[in-house]
Amino acid sequence: MQKEINIHFEVIENYNALNDEEKKLFDAAMNIRKIAYAPYSQFLVGCAVLLENGEIFTGTNQENAAYPSGLCAERTTIFWTAANFPEQKIKKLFVIGAPKDATSSTPIPPCGACRQSILEYEARQKDLIEIYFASLDGEIFKTKSIRDLLPFSFDSSFL
Ligand code: THU
Repeated sequence: MQKEINIHFEVIENYNALNDEEKKLFDAAMNIRKIAYAPYSQFLVGCAVLLENGEIFTGTNQENAAYPSGLCAERTTIFWTAANFPEQKIKKLFVIGAPKDATSSTPIPPCGACRQSILEYEARQKDLIEIYFASLDGEIFKTKSIRDLLPFSFDSSFL
């Protein structure tokens, strides 16, 4: 027997198609990206999350000379946010990654480990987190939940 899992995502053509709140998130991720600490890969990633109270928090990838000790922008951002505001739901997560000197790029999705981490916070807050990943040019892919990027996911229901 063959089975399928369908995933859904929206393509937002450019920055101007975003609403004001989304533009703020895009700008925040784009701005923080410039100060990412990525001396080894030179791949700068900026992330911004929107909380249900309207606050926006940001983060970047943090690399390390012992490479596996570094952390992606998405996890830096959600771990800090969840540690400081455990009662606040995260409504949206926006990520922009590209090589340091790039002027153009394609939308970069969160890595597998980040997807797993984001899934944990959807479960914790019992609510979905909209995921946006954008190119430097303003093309944006959007999903309603991290589950669209992580089908067949492992969660606490299996424990
Ligand atoms: N990186 C992120 O920050 N987020 C991702 O989802 C993919 C990869 C970072 C990790 C490392 O610092 C650099 O990008 C190159 O992999």
